[in-house]
Amino acid sequence: MAASREEIIKELQTAYSMELETVMNYLTYSINLDGVRAEEIKKSLSADITEELGHAQQLGNRIKQIGGLVPGSQGVKIGNQRQPSQDTTDVVACIEAVIEAEESACEQYRKVIRATDGEDYVTQDLCIQLLAAEEEHLILFKGFLKEYRGK
Ligand SMILES: [Fe+2]
Ligand SMILES: [Fe+2]
Repeated sequence: MAASREEIIKELQTAYSMELETVMNYLTYSINLDGVRAEEIKKSLSADITEELGHAQQLGNRIKQIGGLVPGSQGVKIGNQRQPSQDTTDVVACIEAVIEAEESACEQYRKVIRATDGEDYVTQDLCIQLLAAEEEHLILFKGFLKEYRGK
């Protein structure tokens, strides 16, 4: 059953907050990590920052179009993701945290896709595109994990 417009706006605002938290943590990792093994991961996450911020912008624009408003810094809900390790050479912990963040993002987009079905095709289409992007990140980092764990 399709959700109400208010419910859809709320779920999009949640997705917006999640994207911003991802931006913050990927920024952290791209700066804090040390070592030869971390270099490729840092490069990949640096590039992702812009992409994830772009997702927040797309979500924000859609929220506005359907009658909602984007929250300011006090309204953004963060602190749900695994926090970056104090061990700056722990690349595996970083990769695992990225995988968790991407899985949560995929789950949130699937939720909106279901909630908009038969009702709001434009929001649904946006969330399908964002789901595709997050699945790509997820597969990339699952590949990194295989290599960095050595199995
Ligand atoms: Fe994203
Ligand atoms: Fe992502």
